[in-house]
Amino acid sequence: MCGIVGYVGGKKAQDVLVGGLRRLEYRGYDSAGIATLDDDDKAHLTRSVGKIAELSKALESEPQTGHLGIGHTRWATHGGVTETNAHPHHVGNIYMVHNGIIENYKEIKAELKDYDFASDTDTEVLAALIDSNYKDGVSLKDAVAKSLKRIRGTYGIAVFSPKEPGTIIVARLGSPLIIGLGKDETLIASDASALLGYTREAIYLNDGELAVCTDKGAEVFTLGLKHLDSKPETIEGDLAQIQKGGYDHFLLKEIMEQATTLHNTLSGRIDPKAGKMHLGGPNLTEKEMRDIHHVVIVGCGTAYYAGLLASYYMEQLVPDLTTEVVIASEYRYRSLHLPKDSVALIVSQSGETADTLACLREIKKRGVKTLGIVNVVGSTIAREVDGGTYVHAGPEISVASTKAFTAQVVAMLMFAGMIAEYHGGDPKLIAEFTRELEILPKEIEKVLNDNHDTMKSLAKKYSKFDHALYLGRDTAFPIALEGALKLKEISYIHAEGYASGELKHGPIALVDDRFFEVFTILDNWLFDKSCGGLHEVRARGGKTIVLTNSKADIEADDIIRIESPIKLLTPILLNTLQQLFAYYVAVNRGNDVDQPRNLAKSVTVE
Ligand code: M6R
Repeated sequence: MCGIVGYVGGKKAQDVLVGGLRRLEYRGYDSAGIATLDDDDKAHLTRSVGKIAELSKALESEPQTGHLGIGHTRWATHGGVTETNAHPHHVGNIYMVHNGIIENYKEIKAELKDYDFASDTDTEVLAALIDSNYKDGVSLKDAVAKSLKRIRGTYGIAVFSPKEPGTIIVARLGSPLIIGLGKDETLIASDASALLGYTREAIYLNDGELAVCTDKGAEVFTLGLKHLDSKPETIEGDLAQIQKGGYDHFLLKEIMEQATTLHNTLSGRIDPKAGKMHLGGPNLTEKEMRDIHHVVIVGCGTAYYAGLLASYYMEQLVPDLTTEVVIASEYRYRSLHLPKDSVALIVSQSGETADTLACLREIKKRGVKTLGIVNVVGSTIAREVDGGTYVHAGPEISVASTKAFTAQVVAMLMFAGMIAEYHGGDPKLIAEFTRELEILPKEIEKVLNDNHDTMKSLAKKYSKFDHALYLGRDTAFPIALEGALKLKEISYIHAEGYASGELKHGPIALVDDRFFEVFTILDNWLFDKSCGGLHEVRARGGKTIVLTNSKADIEADDIIRIESPIKLLTPILLNTLQQLFAYYVAVNRGNDVDQPRNLAKSVTVE
């Protein structure tokens, strides 16, 4: 979603800002801009619709020379995609960028009668409010603090004024902001990837905090202007992780590197010899583990599907456990009744998803322990949960989530394996899962390499279809949902995932020559039943693709058969092939694979 960068120091701000915005491109955006202050304290503002390349072009004709500035990539929420609505906004003495949503902006706009508003945005209203408070010897810091107290909604902001050169004020509530501390320079970003290569030392601003940034560092305050002693933390990751590494797209890189990233997820957490799994992060006592009888898993999109697959495994492993997997945007407004013996798993790649974060807060209010299954280190969810585990998938740049899914399922499986020990779980089954986890990275690598060309040609064959149904039973059902999501979001082919058993309850009516059907059929006790759905579709002339680990005869238009010692975790293996399929379909259709239309990487607004 929207991205913020800021810089004050000795370098040319324009270069740092545009470079930073490029690093944030993956989050999804539709316009971009920067504003800087030159050495004569004159402000310059350039904005453009479209990609950062457009902004760079605009800056070629009017380069900005100053050493302080702010920049933004905007994903439209209020008002269309226009240059006037793009950030930074300039009102009076204020230049400002903003992530989030100001809910009461109309009310405030009506009160600010002295201002003519150029844009349709809530951000411009906040900039005007700050400007209206920035009078009669009031400092910028005080004007920002006063204005933010009046705001209902969410924000991450960076503000400067030509009246106070050398200073950028930043503040956050519900929208991440990180302050990178360099030598005689300070950087601001809504995402740590924009800071890599400049500094590893950073202050992660908390909700309700404001900071005064200069080239000498940052001072942090509450909105009540109480000085806080914020300790810098170390930013993880390196530049190589946020580069394509020879691949055409981040998505392909992220699919293909899953063996490595999964190895990191598993590292030090399984003991195949003892047949046991152990996660340190949840920080639960033996009694607490014994007391868990209900697990609620919260997520959105792919994170939700990862939770769904993990819930099947959890119920297999832990005999006396019930699980409930919920979509965060729904759950946050339901009347939540959580039994006291519950634990909530909060699943999020970015750790910033607004709905998931809102659920976390609701659940905490009810006194239930929350555990994060999070990828981005230092993200808001990771900071607010009671415990949890990082999935260590490394930066996921492509908007479509792939390696994070695999890592999330595996992290939750390890959580299940750990608590199973305290609930009379079958030691043989726990050991079998552990053994499969140990070989899973290598098997993923093999399956992806062995089937790469096949998936590529399969994608070519099916890329002209308009519709797709993905079907599976049991642990193949969440994979059907995830396969359909992956295809639709990057190829724009209409795709739906269903439990195969549901076919006769409606979706089979859709089968015609505009559709193709993808069946994931596992070699297990439901094999015959899964094939039943396939036959029914074929009998009605459906074009079928089967992904399977079975050696049995199956009739379909195309069959992708894998051979692997993996049994229980086969859905994870087959899902990596669905990812490749979706990738190549999107490439064939000439789409912007890494930044699909209308989507953002991290959905920080509701
Ligand atoms: O960062 P999160 O895991 O919380 O994000 C959740 C969803 O927005 C995300 O998985 C989304 O569905 C992806 N575009 C799927 O590929």
